Amino acid sequence: MFDGMMDLWIKSFEEEFGGRCRLRMDGESLHDAGSDHTEDLHFPPQVIAEPEDTECVSQILRWANDRGVPVTPAGALTGLSGGALPINGGIALSTRKMNQIVAVDETNHQVRVQPGVIVQELQEHVESKGLFYAVDPASRGTCTIGGNIAENSGGPRAVKYGVTKDWVLNLEVVLADGTVLNTGANTLKNSTGYNLTSLIVGSEGTLAFVTEATLKLLPRPSCNALMLVPFESAEKACHAVSEIFKSGSQPSALEFMERSAIELAQAFTGDYSLELLPETSAHLLIEVDAFRFDDLMPQVERILPVVEAFGGAEPLFADDEAAKNKLWRLRRSVGEAVKAKSTYKEEDTVVPRGALPDLIKAVKAVGSDFGFESICYGHAGDGNLHVNILKQDISDERWDQELPMAIRSIFQKVVDLGGTISGEHGIGLVQKPFMDLAFSERTLQLQRDIKKVFDPNGIFNPGKIFPEA
Ligand code: LAC
Ligand code: ZN
Repeated sequence: MFDGMMDLWIKSFEEEFGGRCRLRMDGESLHDAGSDHTEDLHFPPQVIAEPEDTECVSQILRWANDRGVPVTPAGALTGLSGGALPINGGIALSTRKMNQIVAVDETNHQVRVQPGVIVQELQEHVESKGLFYAVDPASRGTCTIGGNIAENSGGPRAVKYGVTKDWVLNLEVVLADGTVLNTGANTLKNSTGYNLTSLIVGSEGTLAFVTEATLKLLPRPSCNALMLVPFESAEKACHAVSEIFKSGSQPSALEFMERSAIELAQAFTGDYSLELLPETSAHLLIEVDAFRFDDLMPQVERILPVVEAFGGAEPLFADDEAAKNKLWRLRRSVGEAVKAKSTYKEEDTVVPRGALPDLIKAVKAVGSDFGFESICYGHAGDGNLHVNILKQDISDERWDQELPMAIRSIFQKVVDLGGTISGEHGIGLVQKPFMDLAFSERTLQLQRDIKKVFDPNGIFNPGKIFPEA
């Protein structure tokens, strides 16, 4: 493993690769590469390498593997679990210069992309051809496909269309020793051997570096309807969620936002045009989509009586694209708005959606036991609730001592409800102390053993996912 002979390896790395790809070693770039969107963490690398092709990635990895220098794959650094932070220093291996949409296969509804492509750019590119890339994380304007693959990202549309792993057919990856290989085939079906593609998706850059992905596309749904439904009680809003599905409706998004989440997003964006009813404590943002306008209303009509039965007030329908964009902008801003408000800690809880009312009740109970305020929002249709605990004027000492206990209580409840400790943000650095709640020691060991097979020298993104054994 890397033994601290820092200056020596940096010099020889620069000599070896300085002429082959862009290296950044200036203070500002290294500083920026040390933080993602997770809390206030900061772990800068010693070098940022920006290779332009698979061959150069392979050479860098072989070089680092031979010397035991840590390599942390890095995309746009929008992650929320510290997954791309080089906590042991070393090389940040950036996808920034590998940002091409290689080819759209309109016959087979597939696209080949390099890892540094911004998700929204991919969406817009395929939409111009009448196609649809379904995964739509809140950070789509900045996050990359490579980062989405690393964390198995979801987002609002996952409730109808699934998460990143459901759209990845095949990956070209580079192993720690520099070997380049494909994990699968560009086919819709594949029952050939172990599913290495699925293993890499969500592995948080700890097993291999993805240099190209083949993704599945759909025909683009041509219309949608969006409504915001206010509820007096957060628990009742959560109760309505599973009933909406039982009504036979299949929303393309079903999001939950506490009142405080919307208020923070309003303050953050400066857009106060949405008037919140005084007695409202939570909202469901519900979207349905279709290929024909006439197919939208029957879906809406199945949803309306359900929300009414659970005490939902008159829904606000977004009349046009501008109104839809405004609502989505508020929803997509909540994460950043919380961050701007206070030091905070985010948990990405997920339970079977029928257990959502119990989860929100438990989160609030833990908050009142420990004296923490929480702001909850997220992908209710998936049972995926982002719980943001605010520090505000809590002393550093109490925050450091009591917060881990509060989080453990929340996660214990999540697991008791049949859920798990991350729905879409990954484990990365910040959730690894809680992995014992999600897996037995035997299961954790099995995963560590898999890591060793891929990366015997432990150079890939060390210190992530697994609690110290
Ligand atoms: C969201 C991000 C935080 O749902 O996952 O806004
Ligand atoms: Zn989310």
